[in-house]
Amino acid sequence: MNSLYARHRAVLPDWLALYYDRPIEITHGEGRHVWDADGRRYLDFFGGILTTMTAHALPEVTKAVAEQAGRIVHSSTLYLNRPMVELAERIATLSGIPDARVFFTTSGTEANDAALLLATTYRRSNQILAMRNSYHGRSFSTVGVTGNRAWSPTGLSPLQTLYVHGAVRTRGPFAGLTDERFTEAAVADLEDLLGQTRSGVAALIAEPVQGVGGFTSPPDGLYAAFRRVLDRHGILWISDEVQTGWGRTGDHFWGWQAHAQAGPPDLLTFAKGIGNGMAIGGVVARAEIMNCLDANSISTFGGSPVTMAAGLANLGYLLDHDLQGNARRVGGLLIERIRAAAAGVDTVREVRGRGLMIGIELADPVSGHAAPEAASAVLEAAREGGLLIGKGGGHDTSALRVAPPLSLTVAEAEEGAAILEQALRSL
Ligand SMILES: Cc1ncc(COP(=O)(O)O)c(C=O)c1O
Repeated sequence: MNSLYARHRAVLPDWLALYYDRPIEITHGEGRHVWDADGRRYLDFFGGILTTMTAHALPEVTKAVAEQAGRIVHSSTLYLNRPMVELAERIATLSGIPDARVFFTTSGTEANDAALLLATTYRRSNQILAMRNSYHGRSFSTVGVTGNRAWSPTGLSPLQTLYVHGAVRTRGPFAGLTDERFTEAAVADLEDLLGQTRSGVAALIAEPVQGVGGFTSPPDGLYAAFRRVLDRHGILWISDEVQTGWGRTGDHFWGWQAHAQAGPPDLLTFAKGIGNGMAIGGVVARAEIMNCLDANSISTFGGSPVTMAAGLANLGYLLDHDLQGNARRVGGLLIERIRAAAAGVDTVREVRGRGLMIGIELADPVSGHAAPEAASAVLEAAREGGLLIGKGGGHDTSALRVAPPLSLTVAEAEEGAAILEQALRSL
């Protein structure tokens, strides 16, 4: 046990999980690579949980942060803040939400908490629909809408949550159905559920592609079909884009656009990638919903000038370099390489995903049961080979997660896939 690990264990909570039998300390990064304290270099296919969105040590972001820090680090939401207004304007336009207002927070948890506050206040109801296998954050309100019990440590909640089918294709009563039949079954389930509630459910909160849940997603269009039902009841739709936003899925800038027939969601939450590691989260809603609170509110740190400067530089780089297009092209190649690598490995049940958001689900080939030990073994073997990836999935953490920075090159995709192939074959 290295001494930093021992000190971590002694002073930090037990539930703050670390990756790897011998956890690593990442000391610096550049592009799509990071280095550990022993000087070992890794190809980073997890980006600090999908947060290093463009690249490590991106000069444009570093410069913007340094320049802003040299001017002023903090002023609070009590004063006009130019970088905050500018980033809000850009995000409002990009969101697709009409008459959009933006509120900045410091994390995805806090963004979803704000969205829940808005939706429940607007609808005067504490009933929420959430998807099974979901993850929306670590606060008291967000664990109350998190369907994945491995990440929801308490059943006590200020909300009454009803969990809906539809985000997981490989297990549950609708496993194995075609896209069309699956959507019909999930919609019928939603209708049935709503038939049993008191009137006035506030909102549905859903990740277009479930992140912590193992990069699972419904058939395209499912949330549009849900929306038609929700609209009949006046129920709002909150799209949690904390992992799916900013073009990561390649085909779309936002995950909700895979369900675009429904139009934009009523509320959209974001975090992770926009700050490239600086703490930015936020919620977008049309003015009528955003302004429904009739008490004052502030966020001391939300929208701080330094984080906003980073967000503006990062977003500018992403758009100028069409990193969404890169995610589509290089992600398409990467998933093909991973599919080929997995072809002869009978523990791989499914390779799924879109853009640079790729999940590899592992299961025992004989029993069909989830194989979390195999997932841990591949994670370790990949690290030995010089590749960092993530884990996720249901209650059993049996899916590997691949989500590199969006500037990934073809050569790096090939190199990472080759390391992953070795790791999978080591099973
Ligand atoms: C979809 C989703 N929502 C919300 C969160 C919470 O974000 P944060 O960890 O920044 O609080 C996460 C974090 O992984 C997430 O994946």
